[in-house]
Amino acid sequence: MKPIISDKQPKPIELEQGKTYAWCSCGQSTSQPFCDGSHAGTAFSPKIFKAEETKTAYMCMCKHSENPVFCDGTHKTLD
Ligand code: FES
Ligand code: FES
Repeated sequence: MKPIISDKQPKPIELEQGKTYAWCSCGQSTSQPFCDGSHAGTAFSPKIFKAEETKTAYMCMCKHSENPVFCDGTHKTLD
């Protein structure tokens, strides 16, 4: 089962050091790039991560990054 492509470009998000986030891996959330529970009943679950520093991060919205939760450019290869 493949994730839904929410967008084919990353979304800049201001992360706060030490704060925990839940990145949506399924692509169905309406609160992108974060999980809103819409994955319920699927094989997907959010990726929980803690921000290591306060900075603007480019979060993966296509859900196909090889380095989730961040964009690694893979969205450029998607049809
Ligand atoms: Fe996508 Fe939770 S809504 S992983
Ligand atoms: Fe760039 Fe997913 S948005 S790899």
